Amino acid sequence: MAGQPAERDLVIRPRRTEDLDDAAEALVAIHASDGYPVEGVDDPHGWLDSPKVIRAWIAALDGRVVGHVSINRPNGEEAVALWADQAGVPDTQIAVLARLFVLPEARGNDVGGRLMNAATTSAQMDGLRLVLDVMAKDAAAIRLYERLGWSHIGTTSHAYGDGQSIEAICFVSPEPAQTSSGSPERSE
Ligand SMILES: CC(C)(COP(=O)(O)OP(=O)(O)OC[C@H]1O[C@@H](n2cnc3c(N)ncnc32)[C@H](O)[C@@H]1OP(=O)(O)O)[C@@H](O)C(=O)NCCC(=O)NCCS
Repeated sequence: MAGQPAERDLVIRPRRTEDLDDAAEALVAIHASDGYPVEGVDDPHGWLDSPKVIRAWIAALDGRVVGHVSINRPNGEEAVALWADQAGVPDTQIAVLARLFVLPEARGNDVGGRLMNAATTSAQMDGLRLVLDVMAKDAAAIRLYERLGWSHIGTTSHAYGDGQSIEAICFVSPEPAQTSSGSPERSE
C-alpha cells in the first residue's frame, strides 16, 4: 500500500450491514496470516454478526474495510466472571470487547488503537466496563492492550476444536475518567 494510513483517508465508524461481506473477507485473510481466531472461520458472517453483538465498528482506509471490533454481551466468558468477582459487580455492568482485527498491510499505525478507543468510549457512555481475553501467542494485541492501559485480571484456558486448548490472558479496560458531573469524558 502506498503511504501511511495516517496520511490517507482512515475512518473509524459504526459497522453497517453492507460492510459485513468486506469484514468477513478481511477476517478470512487474517485467519490465514495470523491464525485468528484459533477456532477457524467456517462461518465468518455468523462469527461477526451474532446476536451477542451490542455494537460494532469498522476501520475504512480509502473506503476499504481494513479493521473491525465489536462489543458483545457476556456469554459465559471467564474474563467476565473474573471481573464480576474482583469488582463485585453484576454481569449486566460488563461487556466483552471482541472480534478485533486489522489487515496486515494496515497495521502499526494505530488503526487497532483507534478501533479500541471507539469501543471503549461507547462502553463508558453506556455505563459498561469492558473485558477481553487474548491468546497468549498474540503478542501485538497484548502490546496494544497494555499501551492503552488495560489491566491483567487473570488467565484462562481457551477450549476450541476437537478437544484442543490454548492459554489466554484476561484484561479489563481502564477505569473511566470522571468529569465533575460524574459522567465519563468522551475521548472522540
Ligand atoms: C492486534 C491488532 C488488531 C493490532 O492492530 P494495529 O493496527 O497494528 O494496532 P496498533 O498500530 O494500534 O498497535 C499495535 C501494537 O503492537 C505492536 N506490535 C506489532 N507487532 C508486534 C509483535 N510481533 N510483538 C509485539 N508487539 C507488536 C506495535 O508496535 C504496536 O505497539 P506500539 O504502538 O506500542 O508500538 C493486529 O495486529 C491484528 O489484527 N492481529 C491479529 C488478530 C488479533 O490478534 N486480534 C486480537 C484478538 S484478542
